[in-house]
Amino acid sequence: MIPVESFIERRRRLASQMQKGIAIIPTAPERVRSRDAHYPYRFDSYFYYLTGFCEPEAVLVIVAGADESASKHILFCRHKDMEREIWDGFRYGPEAAREVFGFDETYPVSKLDEILPRLMADQPVVYCALGHDAEWDVRVTGWINRIRQQAHSGVAAPTQIHDIRLVLDEMRLFKSAQELQVMRHAAEISSGAHRRAMRKTRPGMNEYEVEAELLHEFRRHGAQAPAYTSIVAGGANACVLHYVQNDAELKDGDLLLIDAGCELDGYAADITRTFPVNGKFSPAQRDLYQLVLSAQAAAISAVRPGNQWNAPHEAALRVLAQGFIDFGLCHGSMDTVIQSEDYKRFYMHRTGHWLGLDVHDAGEYKRDGEWRPLQPGMTLTVEPGCYVRPADNVPRHFWDIGVRIEDDVLVTETGCEVLTSAAPKTVTEIEELMQDRKDR
Ligand code: GLY
Ligand code: MN
Ligand code: MN
Repeated sequence: MIPVESFIERRRRLASQMQKGIAIIPTAPERVRSRDAHYPYRFDSYFYYLTGFCEPEAVLVIVAGADESASKHILFCRHKDMEREIWDGFRYGPEAAREVFGFDETYPVSKLDEILPRLMADQPVVYCALGHDAEWDVRVTGWINRIRQQAHSGVAAPTQIHDIRLVLDEMRLFKSAQELQVMRHAAEISSGAHRRAMRKTRPGMNEYEVEAELLHEFRRHGAQAPAYTSIVAGGANACVLHYVQNDAELKDGDLLLIDAGCELDGYAADITRTFPVNGKFSPAQRDLYQLVLSAQAAAISAVRPGNQWNAPHEAALRVLAQGFIDFGLCHGSMDTVIQSEDYKRFYMHRTGHWLGLDVHDAGEYKRDGEWRPLQPGMTLTVEPGCYVRPADNVPRHFWDIGVRIEDDVLVTETGCEVLTSAAPKTVTEIEELMQDRKDR
């Protein structure tokens, strides 16, 4: 768990990077799934990053003065309500929230419309996630207009709106030791879930049975939820990149691709493993698997400080393109296959993304048109793959094979650390683990 002091420190850092002005950061709304049933509630990542507060109907307001010491941290949250708590459970209420989460002031969220225009008056700049939620854009501009209408009484309305994400994305990109501790734990739980899936899988099972094993492992270790809908894709389903139906029978002789990771205290893990349903790779499956594994190894060795964001992708691409030529999937030289983008018939996504509170985490990939250099503290995925759909010009033994291998990686001072290495990925490791399974 990240201590309250760290959240206060983040708010201070944000305030010190703001000019004199006011930041307004609401959490996510509750969403109806059907009639009276809601989706499981998930807070907004920016709001949580600055507060550690998990309840819905809450808004963080930071008033930044000319210097850091003058910043004021205010929370609007649901009021205490014993009647509602009988139905929905505990809520902090403004008073306890102020104590526990270290705010200077707290108010019931029902007073937002009354208090916020007062706080915004005479502030030159409003910082918010402009365009993120149309309803909030309207509210913010509505408050500005209300202040304008009071100009005769001498108050000035803000004249500028800045996107607060420019500052927050950069802060979120570099993980603290405490964040990394949570991410390591999420990675460990998720690696265990992949091991469990390998041990439990048998021909004749359904994809959803394996999905249930993943969920079982996430929840029994305290992870709140999957970080994204698990992909459990047997055989040809692995060639559907966002396959989430997870309701097909697993066939002897097919591969199973699982892309699944848990969310623990807000932080995501994102792991893909591909393994044979019957525990033994066929020669064609092994060829493509080894190719993707080599591509991933090349990409991981390109994760080090100073290398550009794109270096791992380019390293993976070179290995894959050469492999596609060697296996008769592409023709020509490695350079022409890359330049013509012919490889995209079999590898159509990129090799990774930032990882953190969001599975595709906040943070710029380019600056001034250039890929940004990797720096210690950044966390990213490395996830090359190969997806072969049936086609006349494709050797038949590769048809319907889809492979992806995805790990979570931290950039360190000297290179990188793979956070998800407890999930087996060499052919030998996988076959041995699955061999063991037969004996049980
Ligand atoms: N699981 C989402 C991704 O790999 O990007
Ligand atoms: Mn990913
Ligand atoms: Mn993934």
